[in-house]
Amino acid sequence: MSERKPSLAARPSVARRVGAGATASDYILETTGLVKEFKGFVAVSGVDLKVRRGEIHALIGPNGAGKTTCFNLLTKFLEPTRGTIRFNGTDITGEPPQRIARRGIVRSFQISAVFPHLTVLDNIRIALQQKLGTSFHFWKSERSLDRLNDRAMELLTAVGLERHAAMVAIEMPYGRKRVLEIATTLALDPELMLLDEPTQGMGHEDVDRIMQLIKQVAAKRSILMVEHNMKVVAGISDTITVLARGAVLAEGNYATVAADPQVIEAYMGSEASELASLPQAHHHPPSPLSVEAGDFGVLRPATGAVR
Ligand SMILES: Nc1ncnc2c1ncn2[C@@H]1O[C@H](COP(=O)(O)OP(=O)(O)O)[C@@H](O)[C@H]1O
Ligand SMILES: [Mg+2]
Repeated sequence: MSERKPSLAARPSVARRVGAGATASDYILETTGLVKEFKGFVAVSGVDLKVRRGEIHALIGPNGAGKTTCFNLLTKFLEPTRGTIRFNGTDITGEPPQRIARRGIVRSFQISAVFPHLTVLDNIRIALQQKLGTSFHFWKSERSLDRLNDRAMELLTAVGLERHAAMVAIEMPYGRKRVLEIATTLALDPELMLLDEPTQGMGHEDVDRIMQLIKQVAAKRSILMVEHNMKVVAGISDTITVLARGAVLAEGNYATVAADPQVIEAYMGSEASELASLPQAHHHPPSPLSVEAGDFGVLRPATGAVR
């Protein structure tokens, strides 16, 4: 408790924030009353989620809160039981996954989505081909292949993998594989990028690299991410939605949700083990929401709470 790190929440992050008077068109994604039931078990329970255009929006909450299920609903990997999903103002609830991906909602898949025995460059080329389509005409021209290669190298350079282009994916260290995974997602040029635990299982350096990368790619798009590492959440999120038992428990910037007694309680109740198991967790038993404590950073019991 005594040696608290400087508050990451105080960073001047928020040039992009729209402010309280946001209108509907400021939101790239809006869900209304989103529900997912599994044989009577309600995994997602009436979620209203609004993602502002250009923001990095974090979805956090204890294990089993429904975060991944939410993602699966947004990409239509799962069919919602009830509720609506709007993207850029259009109701996309009834659309199939491919259509939604084509609209620009793309989820970065878990590491298995990278073809392990292909080179880094080929992985990117495949993703780019997916984006461009595989029309006959496209393949007729050598020049379009060259352009594909140029674009692939450009992308690799943007994420700092250019020197590893010829490497077989599986031979890269874990952190770089995750970067490659993000790069293959970027190749699809998503307007809204969904990241499910992008820093999972990473050490400090890789976490920092991914944080920078997310910030960098967010300059041109909106990002919704599930993230457990509170250093990352505090460091780069503009808005945070806290889910618990399938419902929204709190929402706001980091300082706001960190000071919310319900959030603290939710993490106390079921999360101590999860927090303690974070890569950066410290030896002493963490106060559930303190930065040091497995990075729940500034999230500590607030005395003069905000609400
Ligand atoms: N396909 C499924 N069938 C039944 N229950 C599921 C299914 N997927 C998720 N659940 C349940 O829904 C709840 C939310 O899960 P999940 O969205 O994975 O949570 P989180 O990602 O926040 O940890 C959990 O209780 C989980 O067991
Ligand atoms: Mg999950």
